[in-house]
Amino acid sequence: MGCCVIVGGAYGDEGKGKIISYLALKDKPSIAARGGVGPNAGHTIEYNGKTLKLRMLPSAVVNESTRLLIGAGVLVDPVVFFREVEQLGCQARAKVDRNCAIIESKHITLDKEGHLKDTIGTTGTGTGPANSDRVMRVGRIAAQEESLSNYLEDVALSLNSALDRGETVLVEGTQGTLLSLYHGDYPYVTSKDVSASGICSDVGIGPKRVDDVLVVFKSYLTRVGGGTLEGELPAEQTLSRGWQEYGSVTGRLRRAAPFNFKLARRSVVLNSATQIAITKLDSIFPDMGHKRAFTNLSSEAREFVKKVEDELATPVVYIGTGPDAEDIIDRRNEVKNGKR
Ligand code: IMP
Ligand code: MG
Repeated sequence: MGCCVIVGGAYGDEGKGKIISYLALKDKPSIAARGGVGPNAGHTIEYNGKTLKLRMLPSAVVNESTRLLIGAGVLVDPVVFFREVEQLGCQARAKVDRNCAIIESKHITLDKEGHLKDTIGTTGTGTGPANSDRVMRVGRIAAQEESLSNYLEDVALSLNSALDRGETVLVEGTQGTLLSLYHGDYPYVTSKDVSASGICSDVGIGPKRVDDVLVVFKSYLTRVGGGTLEGELPAEQTLSRGWQEYGSVTGRLRRAAPFNFKLARRSVVLNSATQIAITKLDSIFPDMGHKRAFTNLSSEAREFVKKVEDELATPVVYIGTGPDAEDIIDRRNEVKNGKR
């Protein structure tokens, strides 16, 4: 299976956690490596009736045979990391790159005031100030953090060696392409590039290592914090359509808008997507919940998927139809056999 990089196509919260947990169970990767900014992410996973909310560990945690690595580019908040490791009992398989920079309480304080809080509307998790210290080369790194001493690894080396051996690995992005520091609508962005290239750099693999770039979209857009959101709905409409979501890190009601083909196209281009996943199809088409075959979808739902494929010139390989990891239509065989 090789190396699949999974990234968000919009403003984060596309449902990456759900898609990744399905792939982890199905494809049994030996390693899942997480790139992205840090604990500003919140990935929600439902599996076997349990809901997990992850901010630091890879979402592939649901597969107990997968090693869970955090790439050098990622910021680690040791408090959040240890809370998750203990909650999930994954001490033996969770590792952090020696070069990960550390979030300290002073970073969190700075992220909850002034420009960052009032203008940007950050998650207040300390990531921007910690990246700022990192750029100034005054921040601490994991290798200097005593509490992490049993959890250190050269993640880039592990990942590249696994690929040399022909193993399957997942590289997990966080946030979404439209929040990229470089490619998003600055200054209403996060503190790093979070497109596929940035995520590969975070974990230490070069572009030639990648077999698939899977870009995840939700069937409608949501955004938290400042910045424009084309087609934004008034809060009452968000509620009446059943699109209300609350930030899994911040608890804020997310702003919502219909799916935007133009923005999605840009995201596909920026990431050189080879595959697309669409989540929450059941939120825009009634009665599509828990469907697991494309032929069981209504004709309107199938038309929407075809329109996405036509406009984005990329196959829609996974369709999410409910919160559980298994509520998914997996079209890999159809796509491979050209039956789509
Ligand atoms: P920061 O990443 O906490 O600095 O926040 C910068 C902007 O990115 C704000 O608009 C946040 O709401 C947004 N953001 C950061 N991480 C996520 C995420 O994982 N999901 C959704 N929005 C995010
Ligand atoms: Mg989230």
